[in-house]
Amino acid sequence: MNLATVILAAGKGTRMKSELPKVLHKICGVAMIRHVLKAARGAGSDRIVVVAGYGGELVAKAIEGQGEVVFQHEQLGTAHALMQAASLQDHRGDILVLCGDTPLVTPETLKRLISAHQQSNASATVLTAVLDNPAGYGRVIRNDGGTVVKIVEHGDASPEELAVREINTGIYCFKSRGLFADLARLKPDNAQGEYYLPDLIGCYAGEGEVVSAVSADDPAEIMGVNDRCQLAMAHASMGARINNSLMVSGVTMIDPRTVFIDAGATIGRDTVVYPNTIIQGSSAIGEGCVIGPFTQIISASVGDNVTIRQSLIEGSEIGSNSVIGPYSYIRPGCLLGSNVKVGDFVELKKVEIGKGSKVPHLSYVGDAVLGQNVNVGAGTITCNYDGEKKWTTVIGDNAFIGSNTNLVAPVRVGSGAVVGAGSTITKDVPDHALGVARDTQKNIPEWSRRKKTGEKQDKEPD
Ligand code: UD1
Ligand code: CA
Repeated sequence: MNLATVILAAGKGTRMKSELPKVLHKICGVAMIRHVLKAARGAGSDRIVVVAGYGGELVAKAIEGQGEVVFQHEQLGTAHALMQAASLQDHRGDILVLCGDTPLVTPETLKRLISAHQQSNASATVLTAVLDNPAGYGRVIRNDGGTVVKIVEHGDASPEELAVREINTGIYCFKSRGLFADLARLKPDNAQGEYYLPDLIGCYAGEGEVVSAVSADDPAEIMGVNDRCQLAMAHASMGARINNSLMVSGVTMIDPRTVFIDAGATIGRDTVVYPNTIIQGSSAIGEGCVIGPFTQIISASVGDNVTIRQSLIEGSEIGSNSVIGPYSYIRPGCLLGSNVKVGDFVELKKVEIGKGSKVPHLSYVGDAVLGQNVNVGAGTITCNYDGEKKWTTVIGDNAFIGSNTNLVAPVRVGSGAVVGAGSTITKDVPDHALGVARDTQKNIPEWSRRKKTGEKQDKEPD
């Protein structure tokens, strides 16, 4: 097709009131600029040039080899920004111009724009939209015959022009021939004193060049993100899009309005997602799972048929058929095999757990390796930190750790070994041995009765 794309992304985004360049703000877990890059690739671009400026180094880093970066050192307007992509001067074909702050546009809409541009043999084609509330956008002004004659920015528009509801989306397709020379002819005669790219449309129309316009079917697709309110709206729009596409592919959501799935996450079919669930980063959830309610999964991989309720899981792997929660906290670096149970009020950190093992209640297990079919009793704590260093606890296959045990690392409990409840284990327990480390119980007969009556005790307690 021979299509090059320029993404304008040099603006600071003053209205965001942020240190971070606007195009690096995330929508559904992915920087705005990366959504735009994806749309450009989807539309069939052979070459992508990103115009960076404010925070340019950060923007260049976020693009990571997905496009060429050129810098606009002073932000003198959108036309001036496009001029910085003059490396495309010799490009033969069309140039698609996208804005880094219009992240919801789809490849389908862009393809429609490009094909209309080519069919009408236009010098420029602008993507427009009809909005109920066009405030803030440039208005598309047509003559009586319906031909586009110019675009007027909100701040420069007359009252009649402000009443126009057809707006400029900031997305255009240009013939590359002569484009850069034509841009150089524009003047900053406007309220902002900037070089406006939309002025090129009026310039072409005035010179009798063919200018055409294509209207986006779904106005939500072309919304520009200029402030945090619009950022939230874009988030809602894209979130709904992600949820719908997952539901179409076979995921059940009890209340999709309260389910937030990042753009990079995947969920297998027949998984049911309960309300108030957040699945972030590049998390991958298998098939037939039950996730939520009130669950947050961050960059974790979850096998098939796993149940996770009211829990927080980050940077870990959960094997198939496991049951997690309610109220489990699985911190980064955990690797759980299949059929594992991690129950209520259990915190895990950097733990490997073999298949069939259980940590059902009220435990902290950190820096540990547990074999298969291990049972960790309620209230077990791995004492992994001596104030300076972290130490590892190893528990062999089929071991049984009694409730309320402290395992003072480094320590190893052998395969098939049993630890008596309430022990503080400081030495290794050999395979198949019983390790008990607690004081022996003593009973003093009649003690409480005598205490009440004031009788002399046989032997006073220590
Ligand atoms: C722009 C359009 C407006 C349109 C709207 C659609 C202009 C003058 N106006 O307005 O007609 O309705 O988008 O969302 O083009 N940028 C640069 N360098 C600059 C200035 C801007 O790279 O010197 C980039 C920004 O980073 C941003 C994009 O261009 O990604 C649009 O700039 P912005 O200031 O947001 O323009 P709007 O006022 O939204
Ligand atoms: Ca904008």
